[in-house]
Amino acid sequence: MSDIAKIEIDGNSYEFPIYVGTENEKAIDVKKLRALTGGVTTIDPGYKNTGSCISEITFLNGEEGILRYRGYCIEELAEKADFLEVAYLLIFGELPTQEQLQKFENDIKDNAILDDDLRKILEAFPRKAHPMGVLASLTSALTAFNPSSVDASSEEAMYNAIVKIMGKLPVLVAWTMRKSKGLPLDYGNKKLGYIENLLQMMFKQPNEKYKVNPIIKNALDKLLILHADHEQNCSTSTVRIVGSSHAGLFASLSAGISALWGPLHGGANQAVLEMLAAIQEDGGDTAKYMAKAKDKNDPFRLMGFGHRVYKNFDPRAKIIKVAADEVLADLGVEDPILDIAKGLEREALKDDYFVSRKLYPNVDFYSGIIYRAMGIPTEMFTVMFALGRLPGWIAQWKEMRQNNEPIGRPRQIYIGKNIRPFVSIENR
Ligand code: SDX
Repeated sequence: MSDIAKIEIDGNSYEFPIYVGTENEKAIDVKKLRALTGGVTTIDPGYKNTGSCISEITFLNGEEGILRYRGYCIEELAEKADFLEVAYLLIFGELPTQEQLQKFENDIKDNAILDDDLRKILEAFPRKAHPMGVLASLTSALTAFNPSSVDASSEEAMYNAIVKIMGKLPVLVAWTMRKSKGLPLDYGNKKLGYIENLLQMMFKQPNEKYKVNPIIKNALDKLLILHADHEQNCSTSTVRIVGSSHAGLFASLSAGISALWGPLHGGANQAVLEMLAAIQEDGGDTAKYMAKAKDKNDPFRLMGFGHRVYKNFDPRAKIIKVAADEVLADLGVEDPILDIAKGLEREALKDDYFVSRKLYPNVDFYSGIIYRAMGIPTEMFTVMFALGRLPGWIAQWKEMRQNNEPIGRPRQIYIGKNIRPFVSIENR
């Protein structure tokens, strides 16, 4: 801590310490505000100016477009690491040795079988059910088969819960997709790596051997790394606040999946593809959609653009845009949607409405184009985001519980009616 903030209220002056982080971010510590001022609180809808916690996991600098997991730049991790390595880094704080990584992967594989009764729950869903609703329900249903809530103070109990969910969620993701396609549920092959086996579980046809395409495997590995954590975004904050009541890890993750579903958050990757397809239907009329996005009377927003924190390029969008070009070229896929996306980006980046509001493409703008080239259905895009974000949610939940953070319970300012006597129904 260093420096002091002075606040004057009704002629009284109060001093509050200023928290300074390792990257020189500053926050006024208002933990004692109500007590010192006789009940004054802060108000900040959407928490645009409010920090909920101190954390060692992820650092973002929105002005400079910086993203680091445990101090490592996202650009290096996306290039040089694989998803399980990054998951280990986020959850346990250090890059794993070869031996640690091998044990992590083996323990995850040993926990990748679901209770067969979960199939019955899955079978009960209509085929057209949105995969995010199915995934949130099945993740919550895991608590029925793993009833004991993890003892967060025990590293061993935490580790066992972590490898359990890291093993089971990919199966739920794959089964959710196969359910929507009426395909038999598959466990893949334990001999395969994490991403290869996920692809096999998702795409293997019952009557043929499945051969992993290395281009798709590498692209998916990179996409999951890029989505793995993002400090206190909406869904991570949800996982933290649900976990702060000491609800279990799986229940907290299920809540995070539901929060991610929203089109303003992770659901944007599906909404981007739907928007680009609509523009394509409209003969590529990007100007019409730009005008809609700028029209205050039109609720339409340019999906995949803008960010609460990034007021510069989302570094993930930069990496994914390059990857989209490479994957489509390597797969020999000509997708006019990519050209429409690039055209829209070009126009927005020179339009004052977007420039003045610092609205740049975010992680969701290009990711769907790659998922689509991989043959993943549009409604599954946010499910892939959830799988990528799983290690981040776990890491943040673990940090919150092991820091013994208090139950999350924000205050409010009441602006309703003052006290009034009850009126019997005859007199109303
Ligand atoms: C993710 O938080 C995270 O880290 C999230 C995430 C993660 O990894 O977890 O990065 C993932 O959720 C990325 C964002 C995906 N969502 C979208 O792409 C949906 C479209 N974008 C927006 O709805 C919006 O930009 C948000 C929700 C992302 C951010 O909203 P804010 O920070 O609350 O900003 P705002 O709504 O106050 O907008 C500021 C101004 C407003 O105009 P004015 O009132 O100043 O005139 O910018 C406008 C907004 O109307 N605006 C847009 C816009 N985004 C903001 N106008 C048109 N199109 C848009 N996309």
